[in-house]
Amino acid sequence: MNDQKDYQNEIEELLEQLTLEEKIDMIHGCGFFRTKGVERLGIPGVVSSDGPMGVRMQFPDDSWVPVGKTDDYVTYSPSNSAVAATWNPQLAHESGKVLGEEARGRGKDVILAPGINIKRDPRCGRNFEYMSEDPYLTATIAVPFIQGVQECDVAACVKHFAVNNQETDRLAVDTLVDERTLREIYLPAFLAAVQKGGSYSLMNAYNRFRGSFCSESKELLDDILREEWGYDGTVISDWGSTHSTKGVAEHSMDMEMSVTTDFDAYYLAKPLLSAVQNGEISEACVDAKVRNILRLMFRLKMLGEHASERKQGAYNAVAHREATYAVAKESVILLKNEPTGKASGAGEERLLPLAKDRLAMQPVLDRKGNLISMRKRRIAVIGQNAERVHASGGGSAEIKALYEISPLLGLKMALGGNVEVCYAQGYYVPDPQRGADELVNWQEASLEQRIMGGGEPDSEEQRALRKEIEKQREKLLQEACELARTADTVIYVGGLNHDFDTESRDRADMKLPYAQDELVQALLDINPDTIVVMIAGSPVEMPWADRAKALVWCYYAGMETGNALTDVLLGRVNPSGKLPETLPVAYTDTVTYKNGEFGKEGCVEYREGIFVGYRYYEKEQIRPAFAFGHGLSYTDFALKDLTTQVVAPLGEGVVAQEDEPVVVLTVTVGNTGDMAGAETVQCYVSDELCSVERPVKELKAYSKIFLQPGESGQVTLTLPRSAFAFYDVNRRGFVTEAGTFVLHVGNASDRCVLQASVTL
Ligand code: BGC
Repeated sequence: MNDQKDYQNEIEELLEQLTLEEKIDMIHGCGFFRTKGVERLGIPGVVSSDGPMGVRMQFPDDSWVPVGKTDDYVTYSPSNSAVAATWNPQLAHESGKVLGEEARGRGKDVILAPGINIKRDPRCGRNFEYMSEDPYLTATIAVPFIQGVQECDVAACVKHFAVNNQETDRLAVDTLVDERTLREIYLPAFLAAVQKGGSYSLMNAYNRFRGSFCSESKELLDDILREEWGYDGTVISDWGSTHSTKGVAEHSMDMEMSVTTDFDAYYLAKPLLSAVQNGEISEACVDAKVRNILRLMFRLKMLGEHASERKQGAYNAVAHREATYAVAKESVILLKNEPTGKASGAGEERLLPLAKDRLAMQPVLDRKGNLISMRKRRIAVIGQNAERVHASGGGSAEIKALYEISPLLGLKMALGGNVEVCYAQGYYVPDPQRGADELVNWQEASLEQRIMGGGEPDSEEQRALRKEIEKQREKLLQEACELARTADTVIYVGGLNHDFDTESRDRADMKLPYAQDELVQALLDINPDTIVVMIAGSPVEMPWADRAKALVWCYYAGMETGNALTDVLLGRVNPSGKLPETLPVAYTDTVTYKNGEFGKEGCVEYREGIFVGYRYYEKEQIRPAFAFGHGLSYTDFALKDLTTQVVAPLGEGVVAQEDEPVVVLTVTVGNTGDMAGAETVQCYVSDELCSVERPVKELKAYSKIFLQPGESGQVTLTLPRSAFAFYDVNRRGFVTEAGTFVLHVGNASDRCVLQASVTL
């Protein structure tokens, strides 16, 4: 369990002995990922690292060029989206533990993870670092993740607080959110992270919130976080998110970190020292920050009587790779697996899992029927994501992975020498190094991508480049088609990569880049049984989805991605991932496209209110390509016998003790197919009649159950008072109104096969 002691006496004792200068040294970076300690008193500095998919490579204190030695390779863990796609809090806990152990092993005190912002728009460049469009799913995955990290005597640092949902103008954009939306959509995961997860630290966001920078927002930091939520952890600034000495000194941000090397000039360094010395800012402001930092240190056993017991951690442990694989395999989502129309032994044939006889060697017989030799089956693996590794991209989430199994490697490793696995790149990916003089760093779009992204090229040189790229594309397309024609099985592996899913930039649209649509269509023309795999961190339009009989979705799932995906394709693993976000048919279906309030500079108004993700699509009855919570299995599950029991009165008015169960429901799940598998039972609540408009339904409970073929099991879900509540702006709190609620139970938001109403 996390240490939630407040260490008041110990802290005061140390505080008394510290000089103002020493205190100020403790509250700002003296290196990019380090603060100064106070040697004389045995107080160490605080060392942090990104996050969230592993421990980032080592940087010198004062340069963004990595140290570049061989001792900082690490376990590359599944992205936060992948962890959420498991719908398995136990695995989230495992994943957090791996991260915590690795961070400790690398000598870190704080790991800048997890990312828990809500996926408000599919184009947000950092969606891959976030969990879900739904606050309940985010909260229930984030809490065990944080606990896992902190069991290793490393602090989690949940980020980015708050309402940080786009990368465009990310350092300054003002976000205007109405109070109810803030409370119902954007804050619940943070509240859970600090209160239930006990996150020892939290990172403020870059953006503005209702006019003030998040680093100095009285509303967010003082009123909500400290006052209302009683948070006594450490608030760390996002790197370079501070804008004034007074602003950050006088609000509840404790540790200023930034990206420049003038450490003494940070707002909370020399400028603060002078301001305190000449009486402009009270020393009490400094003390408040130091207290929070000392508390973090006691909790991490960096200080105090338990310091000798601090866990040492380890990185690249075999167990970490196993845990990474365990998460990855449950994160793979089977979106579609339709009958091919042909009969098979067991009934209707489906493309997945790849049938053994499609992979088995075929006898070559002479005229008399004697065996001459065996012919290998040929699998065409097409698409650059089959071969690409993703660890080193994405911005601050980049990882120097010990290894990363690509899908192609995974398939070859699994299939061995008796299957011919052939690869064709299929689509042309511009080299970000080209036109390097125009590129500043990863934050800059590549010249070629900009040229190919539409618009008229503006120079002779660019026109020539575009021509050359088109030639390349055509050549790769032809090659891929030729290979597809000769293959017994075609597997397409495409999607996005970290040139698109990346910090500091939103996508221009939701389309598949590199002319992949044309390629997938061509492959489906040649072989209608082409299996399509999308690897991406955020939704893409798949205009060919109706034609694809088998479609698999895979987030950036860490170093074991290729093995996990292969095992799903081959049926060694029965897929059980569920979408933690809606995949809309087209970007034009999104509410943010319609209201124009995404990706703007200056100011963004969240005019859709609480209608984010499925809450919007359901309200407007827009059919998505794949609904929130959707994910198929190779086996079938039957849900039946829903029972509900009201165990406590709902009561009307402000919800105080939210965890008190009010309704307990049970449902029987049967595995009616012939393969062991797991199903996630989801419960959505809708309010029949309410004084305010509410979503059609909202996720309020879920549970994953593993069943052998023919086996049945009972799932019990409890709904606390908060499951029925909405935020009442007049009463400034979550309130419940008595009445009838419908509980929708199923295995996807669009497949709630069981319903019950409860009158409370
Ligand atoms: C990102 C943070 C990250 C920090 C340190 C910032 O640019 O927004 O998520 O933790 O850099 O690298």
